[in-house]
Amino acid sequence: MSLMRSNMKFLQMKNQKLFLALALITVLSACTSPNPSFKKEDISLLPKPTSFDLGEGSFRVTSDTKLVVSDEMHKKAANSLTNLFSKAAGFSLEHTAESIEQSIVFTTISGMKKGEYMLDVHPNEITVEASHENGFFNAVQTLRQLLPAEIESAEKVKAEWLIPTVAISDEPRFQWRGMHMDFSRHFFKMDEVKSFLDYMALYKMNTYHMHLTDDQGWRMEIKKYPLLTEKGAWRIPNNQDTICNTRAVENELYKIDESNFKEVDGERKYGGFFTQEEIKEIIAYADERSITVIPEIDMPGHFKSAIDNYPYLSCNEDSGWDTVFTYPACLGKETTYNFMKNILSEVAEIFPSDYIHIGGDEVNIKSWEKCPHCQKAIKKHGLSDEHELQSYFNRDIEQFLNSKGKKLLGWDEIVEGGLTKEATIMWWRGWRPDALEKAAENGNETIITTTDAYYFDYLNEGNPLERIYNYEPVPENFTEEQSKNVLGIQANLWSEWIPNFKRLQYQAFPRILAVAENGWASAETKSFDDFNSRVEKQYKRLDVLDVHYYIPAVKGLDKEIAIVDSALVPLKLAYPLEGVEIFYTLDGTVPTPESIKYEKPFLVEDTVTIKARAYRGKIFNDLKSTKVTRTTYREASNEVPKTKGLKRFVIKGKHKEVKSLKPDTNLKGEKVDSVDLAGFKEEKSFNLVFQGYFHAEEDAVYEFETRSDGGDHLLIGDELIVDNGGWHGPRKRHGKVALKKGWHPILIKYRPSDDPRVMSVKYARQGEELLPMNSRVSGF
Ligand code: ACM
Ligand code: ZN
Repeated sequence: MSLMRSNMKFLQMKNQKLFLALALITVLSACTSPNPSFKKEDISLLPKPTSFDLGEGSFRVTSDTKLVVSDEMHKKAANSLTNLFSKAAGFSLEHTAESIEQSIVFTTISGMKKGEYMLDVHPNEITVEASHENGFFNAVQTLRQLLPAEIESAEKVKAEWLIPTVAISDEPRFQWRGMHMDFSRHFFKMDEVKSFLDYMALYKMNTYHMHLTDDQGWRMEIKKYPLLTEKGAWRIPNNQDTICNTRAVENELYKIDESNFKEVDGERKYGGFFTQEEIKEIIAYADERSITVIPEIDMPGHFKSAIDNYPYLSCNEDSGWDTVFTYPACLGKETTYNFMKNILSEVAEIFPSDYIHIGGDEVNIKSWEKCPHCQKAIKKHGLSDEHELQSYFNRDIEQFLNSKGKKLLGWDEIVEGGLTKEATIMWWRGWRPDALEKAAENGNETIITTTDAYYFDYLNEGNPLERIYNYEPVPENFTEEQSKNVLGIQANLWSEWIPNFKRLQYQAFPRILAVAENGWASAETKSFDDFNSRVEKQYKRLDVLDVHYYIPAVKGLDKEIAIVDSALVPLKLAYPLEGVEIFYTLDGTVPTPESIKYEKPFLVEDTVTIKARAYRGKIFNDLKSTKVTRTTYREASNEVPKTKGLKRFVIKGKHKEVKSLKPDTNLKGEKVDSVDLAGFKEEKSFNLVFQGYFHAEEDAVYEFETRSDGGDHLLIGDELIVDNGGWHGPRKRHGKVALKKGWHPILIKYRPSDDPRVMSVKYARQGEELLPMNSRVSGF
């Protein structure tokens, strides 16, 4: 460009005529030459299309581009494109009925499946073919992703609106590609719901599950029972709010959204709800984006916000928390059934979806065991237990929903007391595959929302992108018929620890992309590396959309650090991502991009707290921190063991505490070469003590790790180094100690759980890889 400009200047001076001729040629050739071509690496389509071919050149969208719309079912798709250009490009794409050059032509053809489409982009024309409205809509979302990220801008921006020449044919694997939001634990407002629906549409997700009621707040106006929202939508901040506030001190992503507080009955309360008019607005907004909204009214458990205000609903007018769950509605009283049906009448009236979700999860059925009304109902209807009572209730509600033209949907607990074939379940309890199998054997349709992969309230570190992507939702042992009954998949965003919309984005992105692709692409064509390279290119788009996505965590601070003189601290990112930098502090403050930038391992020489955080521009992740503690060497023992290995003593009987296990030096222990449960897995009523010496190969800080169920302690000399006591399932704990070169007395005490499965000990020099404790480094 600059060369051309200087050339022009030269010519202008030399020969005006020649300049004009050249300029004319330049303009003419710009008109006739093809638009620029794209490389495959430039393109990121998510979810991945079924078939994709890239050609030469591209189509340029200008204010002259027309949308050829000849059918009512093209409108949503065309409007979606028009809206994007109106905002980002500042021009509107005119809709016309007749075919013309340089246009985007929508054509209805027969024989394609729901969601399926064909898209042909040529430099002079784009054609979109489908048989269903959602096919056209999906095609436009593909066009949207082929356009530069700036197309997502809410304001007019400068960009080259080029769409690469491609031929795409595409169809979804599942018809249910869902996302869930929990409005009860923390509330999200209209504009946030709309933004979330926009994200879903972009990634071709089509089902939005609104968890509208729960113990912590009722979020939908019900005209017949006004107290549900007048009072039930507002709470005095609860213990989850308190924990969020504590976390918010160092992490603004945990700040409770201030705008959800209001003065109610003279008190500052948290809450919010949707009026029925607002719900209609959400449904319409979703519908414009080919998204179906599914309401959930959770019953008969998770019903505290209703029972608080209509106490006659529970067994003994009890409201509040029993040990784990809240008191449920009483299923022995007719009033409960009427109450539920009156609510569901209003819900069915407003939501056009085929399904209404009635929850059914985590019911405290103990309340029914003690309730004369419930027990009477069990007898009267010839039921065998409380599970069957819930099942009786579900069937009654199901019949009612059917009478309103709706289908019943519930969490997988509803299979427990038996289920009609027509009910649909959401399998969520990853640890209860039997519930899914039972539903499959019964012929029920299912949606996979398992804790094993699709619980997005779990932290990214524990439930990472790769695991979600590689999760296959249809169990291998399902018959073809049972596989067909898997309607699709859904990820859930329970909001106990999601107190604002930015945190919701952080929990959802980029993991939502894995669910979008799992719901769409066939299992055979999946590849995480390929997927991940497309995800990386989406971040620019998400930046324009102002989404606070998750970025890789800082690794290296998960354990405390012990120093004698000094230590080098290496940090790294859990995985590489362009533009991500680590910043840290040593003065206890929260790291910002103005703090020390991590370049290479740094030296710590004193007791300090290291705090580190990754940033990508203004996007940041959860802070990581650890304590550095100055310590001194323990002198080595004068004793030198004669025999390799450790002595193992068995102490019979039950011990309340690990601490109370004493090595009995009078007993003849058995020599062992490793610390484990060999020979004891089937035993009951025993405890183990391992005793001997540990060899420090040089003066250094050593780390010990124990893993056990039940509890254990590891001591060097009389110092407790690893405290893995208490009463727990399989669990790891670490401890550090500075040891002088030589032999050090070691004592490991283990008190098993009722079902002992594991006991192991590892060691390493600080910062090195942990190795199993064995006779190479132990003796007695
Ligand atoms: C659930 O997570 N309780 C469905
Ligand atoms: Zn009862």
